[in-house]
Amino acid sequence: MATTSSDLDTRLRQHGTTLRRQLERLYGATHDGDALWSRIEAVLRDRMAERPPVMQALDVARIADRDWFVAPDMIGYSTYVDRFAGTVSGLTQKVEYLDTLGVRYLHLLALLKARTGDSDGGFAVADYLSIEPTLGTMADVEALCGSLRASRISLCVDLALNHTADDHVWALKAKAGDPHYRDYYIVLDEAEAAARETVLPQVFPTTAPGNFTHVPEMGGEVWTTFYPFQWDLNWANPEVMLAMVDTMLRLANHGFEAFRLDSTAFLWKQAGTDCRNLPQSHFIVRALRAALDIVAPATLLKAEAIVPTAFVPPYFGADEGEGFEPECHLVYNNSLMVAGWVALAEQSAALPAAIVDVSGGLPHGANWLTYARCHDDIGWGAVLGDLRGIDSDPEARLTDAAHFIEGAGDSWARGVPFQSDGSVLHGTNGTLASLAGLEAATDDVSRETAFRRIALLNTLAVASGGVATIYMGDEVGMLNDYAYRDDPDRAHEGRWLHRPQMDWSALDTPAAMRIAGDLARLRAARVAGAGAGAPTLLATDASVPALLGIRCGTDRVYLNFSDRAVPLSDTGTDRLSGSAAAATLAPWQAVWLMGDRA
Ligand code: GLC
Repeated sequence: MATTSSDLDTRLRQHGTTLRRQLERLYGATHDGDALWSRIEAVLRDRMAERPPVMQALDVARIADRDWFVAPDMIGYSTYVDRFAGTVSGLTQKVEYLDTLGVRYLHLLALLKARTGDSDGGFAVADYLSIEPTLGTMADVEALCGSLRASRISLCVDLALNHTADDHVWALKAKAGDPHYRDYYIVLDEAEAAARETVLPQVFPTTAPGNFTHVPEMGGEVWTTFYPFQWDLNWANPEVMLAMVDTMLRLANHGFEAFRLDSTAFLWKQAGTDCRNLPQSHFIVRALRAALDIVAPATLLKAEAIVPTAFVPPYFGADEGEGFEPECHLVYNNSLMVAGWVALAEQSAALPAAIVDVSGGLPHGANWLTYARCHDDIGWGAVLGDLRGIDSDPEARLTDAAHFIEGAGDSWARGVPFQSDGSVLHGTNGTLASLAGLEAATDDVSRETAFRRIALLNTLAVASGGVATIYMGDEVGMLNDYAYRDDPDRAHEGRWLHRPQMDWSALDTPAAMRIAGDLARLRAARVAGAGAGAPTLLATDASVPALLGIRCGTDRVYLNFSDRAVPLSDTGTDRLSGSAAAATLAPWQAVWLMGDRA
């Protein structure tokens, strides 16, 4: 069923007020609200007029089923096109593989045209509306979207909102002296930049220290939170909002069904603050959401906000006295991912229990994105606040966990510190398999133990009810790829350690069959138990600190984060093994007990 112009008017009435309210909050004091609204409305109407009938039909279907993505079978997959399949058309040949894994959501990294030279793995975008030329064309992507949709797989692309590449046409025009585009970026004088620097944290302290880059053509210090070639956008300028709304809707019309809002927490800058998670960043996301709800309501927004746990749930939206204003449908449960690694390192479920406990109570039409690994490092700092209730010295405790995952002492893990020589707590790189012990395993016993740890972290992601997303190659147990160190273009960037070329020849190795088999059992268990959405914590015996209990749907899932067998007082049939659960859980074992406790 196609959308009519009266549907658009209905949706404009429904969501237009929310959109206008955000514009008023962001720009009311500095700009003419009526003029801005009529320009935004024109963008919405133009993009709506171009929306393909097939996408309009999806809009109608998804409005009728708002929780379509809060479903037990929502397994995700995240990958680089080049490293996975060479090109976009090559990827079309891999749809069947993804379908076999049960994938319903596919996040493609580094898909849009990136900066020439170093591009921070594709996150320095030179043109949001073109595909990276070596990968294919937008027509190829549209064809891919069609094949994916036929397999009920939604395609997600990164929308890097915080910055463009320094060779994006906006930046080039700004550098050439065009005042319109200069105001798309933030340029400070040296003294002001130095003053701001004192309160700003650093994302890449070793490879890109500081938050400003001197650009002579711009006559000052350009705000660059990440790499010097990633220029932060000036969201206080409504032209940036107009351009981004237009860009996002054009991409949605090409067939993308989800946007990963990159670095969501950084969008708004305000003197005297750390410029993270400011209320205005939320107003921006709400404006984008309202624009999508009007023109392309089939589309999901996903927040990448790698920030302390307490700051994360607001990215789902909030009620500020005008009714609930939604933001993202999906938000990475980064803290739960980090907590899983801490639990493996210290053989205690205390931290994941604390995170599961605060991961509930999601609004209607919202879900977590859960995962064990992704293309970035494991950033430890996000859970410092959560550890405060558990330990009097959270920093020391996390540092111990990080060192363990980086292979200290007799550790089985093979991680490498990121943006630190290891002496300062920051991040850790490595693939799921290498960090869980497969790289260091030398015999069948240690290999089996590593498989169990991999399965344990996958269980944590799946049992937590979210869109459980597999990171490329982890399903076949790919190990760290140290080759990047010999590549002059990549050697400075440690995250390439876990961005290997997909090894298709590994598919029928015992490791791949074991890991993919475990994943398939987990997915089947969640589907059979109809578990989806926010997790709840199950009480466990306090004398067994390594045991974590999660309710998933009506099922009870128990995870033993230790290398010793632990007693399990709950009983029932384990969906993973198909037999009655034993009275003890083996080292690093998980069980998925069917139905409510008798
Ligand atoms: C996000 C991406 C990361 C990138 C950064 C800057 O955190 O996941 O890979 O470096 O944004 O764009």
